[in-house]
Amino acid sequence: MIDISAFLVKQQEAGNLRQLPRLEHPGGGRVRFAGELKSSRADLGLAAVGLDLLDFASNDYLGLTRHPLLRLAAIEALNRCGTGAGSARLMSGDLELHRQLEAALAKLKEREAALLFGSGYLANIGVIPALVGRHDVIFSDRLNHASIYDGCRLSGAKLHRFAHNDCNQLEDLLKRHRGRNQALIAVESLYSMDGDFAPLTEVVALKERYGCRLLVDEAHATGLFGENGAGLLAARRLAARVDLVMGTLGKALGGYGAYVVADREMITLLLNRARSFIFTTALPPTSSAAALAAVELLTTAPELRRDLWRRVEVFKNGLKAGGIKAELGPSQIIPLKVASSAAAVLIAERLGQRGIYAAAVRPPTVPPGGARLRFSITNHLAPDELAAAAAIIAAEWQKPEFNQV
Ligand SMILES: Cc1ncc(COP(=O)(O)O)c(C=O)c1O
Repeated sequence: MIDISAFLVKQQEAGNLRQLPRLEHPGGGRVRFAGELKSSRADLGLAAVGLDLLDFASNDYLGLTRHPLLRLAAIEALNRCGTGAGSARLMSGDLELHRQLEAALAKLKEREAALLFGSGYLANIGVIPALVGRHDVIFSDRLNHASIYDGCRLSGAKLHRFAHNDCNQLEDLLKRHRGRNQALIAVESLYSMDGDFAPLTEVVALKERYGCRLLVDEAHATGLFGENGAGLLAARRLAARVDLVMGTLGKALGGYGAYVVADREMITLLLNRARSFIFTTALPPTSSAAALAAVELLTTAPELRRDLWRRVEVFKNGLKAGGIKAELGPSQIIPLKVASSAAAVLIAERLGQRGIYAAAVRPPTVPPGGARLRFSITNHLAPDELAAAAAIIAAEWQKPEFNQV
């Protein structure tokens, strides 16, 4: 039984106690810190109260959460179908909108079929135990998202974790532990805290050589890479060689919910075995309609991606011009490692005082020693705001107390 007070004190002392930030969202890529000081977030500081801060912690990369077409679609669905689906899909909650969205996602991802889930977390904890059980093995990248890890644990399968993006170690583990039963490899295509890509071609080759199934999480890549924003697998022409691809509707697609795409037989299996699909209320009509509009926009509005990549370039160039020599990675997620959890909190507070809201990411979200600031770029932020923010961030980060890593 957990000693609650001891746990909370320990987290507080290590600088790792989580608190909800009380935020308002006035628009324009801003968040406004609305909390009273005593209930405020430790990493934002007094000066930030009531100030509008540029939001570098949002995954609304394309800026779709406020797009007029998504809002219209949601309102229309609300008026036509009401506020909720009322029950699970397998009971009476199935909507035509769900099937339209699944068809659109399958088409986007160049696969036969798709299945919606309530969230990306629910997708990962449902899919993995549907595929492997206690006689089977899983090979999982060490930096995989908590939902993948939790899915692995729920499955009861033997879990082998390999060093981040290390295909040599993956192959070594496969040689030693593949066995004769089911084996699953799990990776993300774009890692959420490091902003780097998985070596997808090598991972697919290994999965084929060792007869495993492969799950790829495209939560942060969908909408941004490849023709029509289908993701990194499509961009690398690997989509058809991967058994299951999951993604969320809650990041670049601007809404809420998630999906898995695969061949039809696999989707039928999930519909019958994924407990987080079967035993939960179906996605509401509003979220389904907004996501359908978002998927359509990926094809009809390619300028959304062009605008984002221009902003990412402006921000990275600003950091470099400010003297940062650290590797800034290939994506819209830019981590800047700092010396400790306390340093992460302190620099986030300093930036908060200067109008910049960035996530201080600390263990256990990242491995011990991996404390960092994570900047994600969205179309809500104007290029000149990004350039000005980058100059401030670079100057702070280079102070010796922060970047002694
Ligand atoms: C890689 C990855 N997978 C899955 C999820 C979970 O998705 P959702 O937010 O839709 O539950 C996230 C969300 O942070 C993520 O970063």
